[in-house]
Amino acid sequence: MRETFVHDHWSNRFAFIMAAVGSAVGLGNIWRFPYITGENGGGAFILIYVVTTIAIGLPILIAELMIGRMGGQSPVNTVNSIVDRFRLSAIWKLIGWGSVIGAFVVLSYYSVIGGWAFRYVLAGFMGGFSGMTPDAAGSFFGEFTGSAAQLTFWHTLFMAVNITIVLGGLKFGIERAVTVMMPLLFLLLVAMVIYGATTAGFSEGFAFLFDFDFSKVTANTFLTAIGQGFFSLSVALAAMMTYGAYLDRDVSIPRSAGIIAFADTLVALLAGLAIFPLVFTFALEPSGGPGLIFVTLPIAFGKMAAGGPLLATLFFLLLSVAAITSAISLLEPAVSWAEESWGFRRSVTAMIVGGAAWFVGLASVFSFNDWSGFFPLAPLGLLENATIFDALDYSITNILMPTIGLLMSLFAGWALSRDAVAEALDLSPFGLGFRAWRFLMRYLAPLGVLSIFIANVVAG
Ligand code: TRP
Repeated sequence: MRETFVHDHWSNRFAFIMAAVGSAVGLGNIWRFPYITGENGGGAFILIYVVTTIAIGLPILIAELMIGRMGGQSPVNTVNSIVDRFRLSAIWKLIGWGSVIGAFVVLSYYSVIGGWAFRYVLAGFMGGFSGMTPDAAGSFFGEFTGSAAQLTFWHTLFMAVNITIVLGGLKFGIERAVTVMMPLLFLLLVAMVIYGATTAGFSEGFAFLFDFDFSKVTANTFLTAIGQGFFSLSVALAAMMTYGAYLDRDVSIPRSAGIIAFADTLVALLAGLAIFPLVFTFALEPSGGPGLIFVTLPIAFGKMAAGGPLLATLFFLLLSVAAITSAISLLEPAVSWAEESWGFRRSVTAMIVGGAAWFVGLASVFSFNDWSGFFPLAPLGLLENATIFDALDYSITNILMPTIGLLMSLFAGWALSRDAVAEALDLSPFGLGFRAWRFLMRYLAPLGVLSIFIANVVAG
């Protein structure tokens, strides 16, 4: 490696928190969380989600930010330098490489779905959902995703916006974008919840989210909750490690991580409170799966007596903002690695890396249309009906993320000494908080993650 590349640092704690919350709050909160909650029976799932997030997701988030700050470089060189400094096994280097590559691959398809959100802002704005019947909403979505040209257009636009932000660098690109977008996102969300509270379906929506029906809980509910928690908190795929690398020593990582996890969970719950009242007001199905946002909600917007187009526009704008601030954090890890490795100007680096992710994303674009019958892993007898998009999403969220989460908890809990991590977190090794964190890191997190992993692999 050449002499160490020096990265910019966050201007202040607020900028860092906005960027990290921006990373965490994304399609995972507003698209995935509501439909997964719907599919898993509502309240009981939410309770389990909150508990596993606090017990497993939050400690790993702390570890990831800590590891990032210890190294101060891209995840690849951060992990390599810690391994060298403490003479640890080379196996840990998988955390750096695996997570950066994983983030890059997630970015490739995240951008495709982000493009859908952009497209739906326009559709809402043009009053496109007015009077839509369920069939019409289904075929609108089907025709849109069925068109490779349309998906490519919106994927390109989404990635272009993302690259434009990231190439501006930490202060002029990322910080400026997130400090404007995150407050906007919050306002939009509150407005949506207030609207939801005025609808006839609010109490039913509320009960759906918060009435605990334990008859629907199975072992799988826990596994789904842990997996969703990882994705939602942006852990295990380099984003938080990269953001931690830009963090000054005087910022408290445990406190910041607590704020990030709290905000992320709050947004997911508020998104549920914005969405389900509409679903129930118009007698629609809460268990609509991935189509909940893109098919079910447009029907609700279309049925509103007044304000449907406005509300639809605001909702999909909210979704778009959430997606962009997350996509930034999926692009930044590979960009920071490339900055250290290639020696080009940041703008060139961001365009090359973002362009490459755009290109890889075309495979996901075609998964919904021209290649919708191509199941890449079927010849191996795996995931028989999975398109390239499905296979990438499945292998990353169910295999790569748990593997990295597991390695990360073992790295922070076992490979690094107690004193080294206490110093890195700026905590006393004898304090209650530190001991609780280290216990979760050494025992509960690895066992919890290992169980998702095994169950997913066994259940296929
Ligand atoms: N957390 C984001 C969401 O909820 C997705 C995301 C952004 C992410 N960066 C990440 C997930 C890094 C894992 C790792 O949509």
